[in-house]
Amino acid sequence: MITDLGIKGVTFNAFQNEKDTNALNKLTGTLSPGCVAIEIGTREGYSASITARNVEKAGGCLYVVDPWETLDVFRKFRDNMKLMNLTVYPLVMKSVDAARIFKDGVLDFIFIDGDHTYDCVKDDITSWLPKLKPSGIMAGHDYKPNAKGVMEAVDEMFGDDVTVFPDTWIWYGYKRYQWGQF
Ligand SMILES: C[S@@+](CC[C@H](N)C(=O)[O-])C[C@H]1O[C@@H](n2cnc3c(N)ncnc32)[C@H](O)[C@@H]1O
Repeated sequence: MITDLGIKGVTFNAFQNEKDTNALNKLTGTLSPGCVAIEIGTREGYSASITARNVEKAGGCLYVVDPWETLDVFRKFRDNMKLMNLTVYPLVMKSVDAARIFKDGVLDFIFIDGDHTYDCVKDDITSWLPKLKPSGIMAGHDYKPNAKGVMEAVDEMFGDDVTVFPDTWIWYGYKRYQWGQF
């Protein structure tokens, strides 16, 4: 599905659901000044563009991680960001490799929307949770019945500490003391 925001030249091969967009906007709209955020799984940059706007308003920085196995898709992402005048820092690699670059406890916000298989989502959560600040938020997309891997891994890792925005596929959880185990 092609999403067109009405900005000349900017289109995304992305599923645009207004409620999901609003939920992500709400989650990232309260980030602290100077925040550091990361997105796992960016493709052409639709969700990254929502987060990037809010991160910029907060004077923070957004890293995005994706192996971008197709150069055309990476170019489309790059062009979209440029046309929208957004600065994001791409890490062209797999999520678990990127996690090794970051020290523990340095991130304010992590958005997971990469490989949706159970094993990969679980690896993403366990690799990235330690990187969150104590007050940080971990969130993600596609918490929905036809992405069972996402639902199963998120439920297993967060239990009752996960919240899904009503009528959306956006989930989030706070880093709480119990995550110290990872
Ligand atoms: C559902 S799409 C992301 C959609 C994007 N968030 C948007 O709003 O349009 C999933 C993306 O995850 C990327 N991906 C797949 N495996 C990954 C991994 N191990 N680490 C990081 N990204 C991965 C894919 O290349 C793809 O671009």
